[in-house]
Amino acid sequence: QKVIFSGAQPSGSLTLGNYIGAIKNWKSLEDDYQCIFSIVDLHSLTVRQDPESFRESALSFLAQYLACGLNPDKSIIFFQSHVREHTELAWLLNCMTYMGELNRMTQFKEKSERHSDNVNAGLYTYPVLMAADILLYQTSLVPVGEDQKQHLELSREVAERFNNAYGDTFKIPEVHIPKVGARVMDLQEPEKKMSKSEENDKGVLYLLESEKSLTKKIKRAVTDNENQVAFSDAQPGIKNLISIYSKLTSNTVEEVEEQFSGKGYGDFKKAVAEVVIENLRPIQDKYQEYMENRDYLEEVYTKGAEKASGIASKTMEDVREKLGLVK
Ligand code: AMP
Ligand code: TRP
Repeated sequence: QKVIFSGAQPSGSLTLGNYIGAIKNWKSLEDDYQCIFSIVDLHSLTVRQDPESFRESALSFLAQYLACGLNPDKSIIFFQSHVREHTELAWLLNCMTYMGELNRMTQFKEKSERHSDNVNAGLYTYPVLMAADILLYQTSLVPVGEDQKQHLELSREVAERFNNAYGDTFKIPEVHIPKVGARVMDLQEPEKKMSKSEENDKGVLYLLESEKSLTKKIKRAVTDNENQVAFSDAQPGIKNLISIYSKLTSNTVEEVEEQFSGKGYGDFKKAVAEVVIENLRPIQDKYQEYMENRDYLEEVYTKGAEKASGIASKTMEDVREKLGLVK
């Protein structure tokens, strides 16, 4: 079975964009691939974290994934920091990555401008740890957003460099970017994607948000003066709401247009709010149950780490041997 690996940092709160654009997609892959989903807590440490809330946030992410329906009997779900091979391989790959390559990473450039008070070495070698995450599991496919494409290119580059120098060791991973339709946009600024790290979150819908707040945000979503529920680039706000409604109900865009033809934006928004709430309510209920059952969470991440270690340690054994480290 082919391996799919993806990772997400346990910071901020998951949004409806993460759900529609990533998690729902992952769920559909669980049957056909060996899926490995890592909560990449080590990556989050490039930013100073408060230990108490960091621990709670990591557990909350795990509970949210489970609540969204990721199945720990099918997929391997684990905390990156529990599998020591990630940092070990990262060091070895650091020695095979050029500073020139890391200097070109646009995310590093952006982040070091935004957090100019803490441009640490971890932030700089972040893409190498990411390469280690992926290469440890002989991954075929990596589903990520557009913004991670450059990091994935680097993973491929470094893997090829290692293979050329020491013989076949790593599988070369392919990036898997979901179709454009899977981009959920900000309700206030529909030319921008809905993002969990947004300071002004009036246009961001969170998985764990209250019904009242979700409804309010959807009611206040930016629209236009066309007064027709049409999927058109000239109406980015309405287009986004149609897209959300369509994804959550599995109706086609045309069916949604038809359903609301002649209706006002008020009615349409009310319907969108209802569908969003209907979809999120069971997730929120299950989330509460998981958060109250810490023993179960522990069982899931312990088992996940065991399975992940089993694969990772095999790769590392090969890597050590190839590099000439004494056994
Ligand atoms: P991020 O929240 O940027 O860490 O992204 C985690 C995953 O969710 C990635 O696979 C993204 O492609 C996906 N994702 C994040 N925001 C959106 C969005 N607004 N629409 C669709 N997918 C998204
Ligand atoms: N850098 C990714 C992001 O910010 C998270 C990540 C870390 C990741 N390791 C990974 C994604 C491995 C895919 C595969 O979204």
